[in-house]
Amino acid sequence: MLTWVEKYRPKKLRDVAGNPSSIESLAKWAEEWKSGIPKNRTILLYGPAGTGKTSAAYALASELNYDCIELNASDTRTQDIINRIVGSAAMQDTLDPSYERKLIILDEVDGIHGKFDYGGLAALKKWVKESLQPIILIANNPWSLPREFRALTLMVGFKKIDQRSILKVLMHICTKEGIETDEKVLKMIATNANGDLRSAINDLQALTEGKKKLALRDVDALTMRDSELKIFDTLIRIFKTTSADRAREAVWESGEDADTILKWLVENAPREYEDASDLARAFERLSRADVFMGRIMRRQDWDLLPYAINAMSAGVALAKQHKYSKFVRYQYPQIFTLYAQTRKAREVMDSIAEKISRKNHCSKKDAKAEYFPMLKIVLNNSAEMGSQLASELELDLEEIQFFIKEERLAKNIYSQANEISAERIRASTTKVKQFSLGEF
Ligand SMILES: Nc1ncnc2c1ncn2[C@@H]1O[C@H](COP(=O)(O)OP(=O)(O)OP(=O)(O)O)[C@@H](O)[C@H]1O
Ligand SMILES: [Mg+2]
Repeated sequence: MLTWVEKYRPKKLRDVAGNPSSIESLAKWAEEWKSGIPKNRTILLYGPAGTGKTSAAYALASELNYDCIELNASDTRTQDIINRIVGSAAMQDTLDPSYERKLIILDEVDGIHGKFDYGGLAALKKWVKESLQPIILIANNPWSLPREFRALTLMVGFKKIDQRSILKVLMHICTKEGIETDEKVLKMIATNANGDLRSAINDLQALTEGKKKLALRDVDALTMRDSELKIFDTLIRIFKTTSADRAREAVWESGEDADTILKWLVENAPREYEDASDLARAFERLSRADVFMGRIMRRQDWDLLPYAINAMSAGVALAKQHKYSKFVRYQYPQIFTLYAQTRKAREVMDSIAEKISRKNHCSKKDAKAEYFPMLKIVLNNSAEMGSQLASELELDLEEIQFFIKEERLAKNIYSQANEISAERIRASTTKVKQFSLGEF
């Protein structure tokens, strides 16, 4: 299924919503290339996610009929590769007569660093300065790039998209998709998106999945599911990137704790990764993260947290060989539902284990592992021994029923156990009485 963000990606510069002066600067810079080489051979589009930077670059290329040479974050961008791909493109005109000229686009340049992209930025700097063809660089955070690198570019900032512009895009999509709704509803989605048009469109698609009408109460869920949406955002950021840094940031910046994020990733990795080897790699890393999380919980060893986060974020992000651009409706982890369904049973088990451990001076874990199977056999096979044990351990009816499925038998043992307990109490008080009488 084509995602709506793909389907409605602006094809022309004038279709890019918001940021009019930035779009104008971009168009003007492109115009300058028509009559020679401008002062800045490279333009750097920067700003928050989902504001149309990538879309604007490609819209410009298609509008001017430019041949795009692209290198994005999913490609390795070492010195060698930059020189080979960007360098050769920068030095010659397009060879394809159906295009006007070449345009070099590098997305997520703030992600070029570290061991994988060794020397990439230094190599790029040369082409930024000397290219004979226009270069568009795109970044979320340009301030992480060296100052002398930035100084070589024409920096054009994209701001968060204003609500009115978001609203217009949402209305347009609803008309095209035949969705019946009203302005108030779309305004709520727009407000909630906080300037990120991509997430507004994704929310609209998620909320209208399988229906043609969108009412105010459906969108209510948007605010109620706020934490869920935040986690969707974290998942998208991990699953859809191939940058280790971006994936790690997604977890650190999320309002959710690492263990919850891990469970969401486990639930949704098979929905995202279609390729079996991608999925196998993702699960191998998730299981490593799980081992770390287990140690952290048991020993409170929080120094291990970065390792767990690294495995679940960068590990999962880099498990794929290429990005999946499909839309995925991420699901609530079943393990949480299972926890909720089995909570009662687990509480009963815990209270039985507690009683056994108190009497026998063993751990609750041992009680469950060693005494439970024995109790089950005795209670189901010998009413006499069973009621002795039940009395000794002071099990209540619910606890006896945990082992005995047949209700009549369980009740029978419970009442016999009660009699044995009553008898024991009577006997001990008589003893006290006899003893005290002898005293006098
Ligand atoms: N200004 C916009 N006008 C129209 N559609 C937009 C705009 N911004 C985002 N979108 C929608 O969101 C999608 C993603 O936008 P785009 O990839 O251009 O964002 P971006 O600024 O490059 O974000 P990122 O920093 O996360 O890469 C587009 O395909 C389009 O559907
Ligand atoms: Mg982009």
